[in-house]
Amino acid sequence: MAYVFEIAEKELKARPATLEDSRMLWGWRNDPETRQRAFEADEIPFENHEKWFANRVDSETTRFFIIENSESTPMGVIRFDIDSGISDIAIYIDKPEQGKGYGTAVIRTACQYGFDSLGIEKYQTYIRTDNPISIAVFKKLGFTEKTDITHKDRPAVEMVLEKPTA
Ligand SMILES: CC(C)(COP(=O)(O)OP(=O)(O)OC[C@H]1O[C@@H](n2cnc3c(N)ncnc32)[C@H](O)[C@@H]1OP(=O)(O)O)[C@@H](O)C(=O)NCCC(=O)NCCS
Repeated sequence: MAYVFEIAEKELKARPATLEDSRMLWGWRNDPETRQRAFEADEIPFENHEKWFANRVDSETTRFFIIENSESTPMGVIRFDIDSGISDIAIYIDKPEQGKGYGTAVIRTACQYGFDSLGIEKYQTYIRTDNPISIAVFKKLGFTEKTDITHKDRPAVEMVLEKPTA
């Protein structure tokens, strides 16, 4: 499998997701704690997930990257949904690996890759206000924060990062 970018400081590598990742991603998506952080918090039946994933993994506007450790074990995922140069970000680090600096490093490197290689000009993403860890990570990475937003009927913050001008 060809890797598309590396996160050297954490010895991680990113590869495109394939249909074979579907069940693993479904498991991560349905974890009760993960669902508490998601805008669509309902449990998702595998059949629905599989259809959604098959569409997305094939799509020109979605980029899914599976993050693997030095033993090639998947330990997270980052997804960009790109529309006219503006990309949403979805990220998940597997629970036993959270809080070790991986999420910060993955978002930083993936966003740089998106600016350099995917034609992304701006990231614009929403985070639930009850997800202080995620908010802290995006702020640390230089995203600007707009508060008092409602997104999908939930209190949220909007996080924006523009491509630096050369
Ligand atoms: C959000 C997520 C991607 C962050 O990745 P991570 O690897 O766990 O995060 P990191 O270890 O890189 O950084 C966590 C930071 O949050 C800080 N933090 C921890 N608890 C905190 C709290 N209660 N309030 C504020 N900040 C907190 C840590 O101190 C750390 O910052 P530091 O490095 O400056 O000390 C990951 O936890 C995750 O996948 N969570 C579940 C899914 C999710 O919430 N996705 C994001 C949806 S927008």
